[in-house]
Amino acid sequence: MNQLCSLLGIDLPLVLAPFGPWDQVRLAAAVSNAGGLGSLGTAVRSVPELRKQWELLRSQTDRPFAVNHTGRPLDRSAFDATLDLRPAAISFHMGIPADLIQEAHDRGVLWIQTVGDVDAAEIALEAGSDVLVAQGDEAGGNAGWVSTLVLVPAVVDVAGGTPVVAAGGIGDGRGVAAALALGAQGVSLGTRFLATPEMTVDQAWKHRIVAAHARDAVKVRHAERVLPPFNLPQVGTPFAPRALRTDLTDALERDPEQVDPAAVGPRLLAEIRAGGGHEDLPFTGQSVELVHDIVPAAELVARLWHECADALAAAGKLLPQVRED
Ligand SMILES: Cc1cc2nc3c(=O)[nH]c(=O)nc-3n(C[C@H](O)[C@H](O)[C@H](O)COP(=O)(O)O)c2cc1C
Repeated sequence: MNQLCSLLGIDLPLVLAPFGPWDQVRLAAAVSNAGGLGSLGTAVRSVPELRKQWELLRSQTDRPFAVNHTGRPLDRSAFDATLDLRPAAISFHMGIPADLIQEAHDRGVLWIQTVGDVDAAEIALEAGSDVLVAQGDEAGGNAGWVSTLVLVPAVVDVAGGTPVVAAGGIGDGRGVAAALALGAQGVSLGTRFLATPEMTVDQAWKHRIVAAHARDAVKVRHAERVLPPFNLPQVGTPFAPRALRTDLTDALERDPEQVDPAAVGPRLLAEIRAGGGHEDLPFTGQSVELVHDIVPAAELVARLWHECADALAAAGKLLPQVRED
């Protein structure tokens, strides 16, 4: 139990990353029930759809969870509905809206802000964030340009008393141990949790994750041609998505002018809303290299913690030798 756990009311400092529009209700319930913080994305979903998800989640767990919003784009009606729901926390990515942070605090809801560099971390702290997620560019989905190994300690150095959660590239307990050694109080995992039976994405996507290597998870070039626009100011170079390579990611890289935004954008949106989209843009991070099985979420959480303890114990054994040198 550390400050992050006490703040969020959780037993383990482990966050299930939000997955935008993909339905993750069962997975979020499993992670919250295992002692971590489950999350739900909200992207491109209507308020009635979201309310149905929230009702279902609350029927499956009475533990804390977070609801995520982003500035790509921010949907004000979904945000207002989230304030009415009063989850333990709102997590936010791609924009640092100080006015919304105040609104969340006025309702007693904590604010978890994702940042991709130190400038953003400083702005997020000034705006009143309760937790920072330092997300490295290894991450699946939209991410910045600094690696997790550099970003986490740099954000810890400016965060003062605000807890930092490490995200991006953490695929097993050794990564969890590394994040804790860098000064993070917790971890947020996305890609690793996609390969669980509770996650509703297509089996083909999960099997690709198990089979893929890190180099298959590419930073998608010219994604603005097919993804919704940002409607909040961004800090520095805007985030860009990382996904498994597909015909679409290849076309965007090779010859972006040939990808017609008017045709591909709406098609992609329709696919994703129907639970698909993995044929075109399967958001996934470099930690695929470390994912070798599809495993139930509760088992995965326990495994991550055992592996983390083993890794920290093994690293600790090196210390006497170092001190003797
Ligand atoms: C399929 C997918 C969808 C994502 N959608 C969102 C989102 O809507 N909002 C958000 O803040 N982050 C989103 N992310 C990023 C994750 O929150 C998280 O930072 C990332 O997955 C952590 O890195 P990892 O994939 O290496 O574990 C998404 C990631 C994936 C893989």
